[in-house]
Amino acid sequence: MNGKRQMILLNEITKLNTKQAGWEPYAWYKEMRDNSPVYYDAEQDVWNVFLYDHVKRVLFDHELFSNKKQRSLIPIPDRLESRSNVNLVDPPDHRKRRALLSQAFTPRSLKEWEPRIQGIVDELIANMEGFLTIDIVEKLAIPLPVTVIADLLGVPSQDRHLIKGWSDILFLPYNTEAYADIDRRKGIAMKEFVEYLYPIVLKKRQHPEDDIISDLTKAELEGERLTDEEVVMSAIGLLGAGNETTTTLLSNIFYSILYDGPNVYQQLKADLSLVPNAVEEVLRFRFPASMDRRVAQDTNVFGPQMKEGQAIVAWIGAANRDESQFANADIFDIHRSGNQRHLAFGAGPHFCLGAPLARMEANMALASFVKRFAGIHRVEAFDVGEHLTESIAGQSLTSLPIGLQT
Ligand code: HEM
Repeated sequence: MNGKRQMILLNEITKLNTKQAGWEPYAWYKEMRDNSPVYYDAEQDVWNVFLYDHVKRVLFDHELFSNKKQRSLIPIPDRLESRSNVNLVDPPDHRKRRALLSQAFTPRSLKEWEPRIQGIVDELIANMEGFLTIDIVEKLAIPLPVTVIADLLGVPSQDRHLIKGWSDILFLPYNTEAYADIDRRKGIAMKEFVEYLYPIVLKKRQHPEDDIISDLTKAELEGERLTDEEVVMSAIGLLGAGNETTTTLLSNIFYSILYDGPNVYQQLKADLSLVPNAVEEVLRFRFPASMDRRVAQDTNVFGPQMKEGQAIVAWIGAANRDESQFANADIFDIHRSGNQRHLAFGAGPHFCLGAPLARMEANMALASFVKRFAGIHRVEAFDVGEHLTESIAGQSLTSLPIGLQT
């Protein structure tokens, strides 16, 4: 199913071959920033940039670095490359496609969603009552984003286990050894997911409700309504973009509070207004994302000669630790000013459409949690290396046990 699009395999560039090393790639990022900031990987014919200014330039400059590409880091299923796909196109066409989706993410719609999201957060926190130890990934980081997206798209939230299962498989990263098996599983997941969504789209076209799928059935692109297939693919695309990423953010927030700095929880407890800045600091400090582009013209903007058609990876997680932008960048500091200049949501024309939603979910979840629990503590036996899985955003936690004080 992914025959057309050749994958760029990041762990073959980093050579960080254990899961644990993938979880803490920051020493490697530093080495690259200091010694090989513009690095050519000959095995895969891929350029790599690590400095903040370079990464930002790659993300902004669509004339030199295009999103119309034949190779990719993110395993985007072929069927998602439809006319309504917002990510695989450059301006000016990009603007029309983005306008279709962006109505759903205006500040007004977010305001309307606020009580729905708070309701989901409250329910998840109520489910933690009475436990001395919980797995925060299972209790919050997984269910919150998938329930929110299911609700906003207008698909039944009791089906969230199905949706999460399909979305995990569809966006599973490829690796060389299990390529054929992963591809086969993705094919099955896509077929099942499409069969599940189709009747929902047909129903909403006839009887629109207050949700994004209904909006998409009414939306027009170049004077024509989107087809059922295009609506289905847009819905799957939104799930792919917003589900696992937000789960990773929520898990990493709790990991950073427990392991990356002293007394962070008590500082938040004493002053809840620190919550939004703490969330931004996690996005800066512990979100090892990368994005890729196609070099669209021969160029030497970064020094070495890059040729049209080559791939380039912008290492966002490395840019976010660049000392030229963030003093003491390797220190996790929830009081840091200016940390929202991080690039975890991208930059330029493709800047994350869901950033306000992800921020709202994370801020609400963290504030409500801190209000409810007097303290949290590490579980001694926890060994991070045994609780990691590969994900498109680098290594992510499969579970994170935390002790609760009520
Ligand atoms: C912590 C959570 C999230 C992170 C770190 C994140 C990160 C990103 C990044 C880095 C990009 C830029 C891609 C590029 O430059 O090619 C992006 C684009 C996008 N994101 Fe997010 N995202 C998050 C959550 C969400 C959510 C919740 C949604 C929607 C429900 C969403 C929808 C999108 C869409 C539609 C795009 C494509 C925009 C375009 O190409 O114009 N994201 N995201």
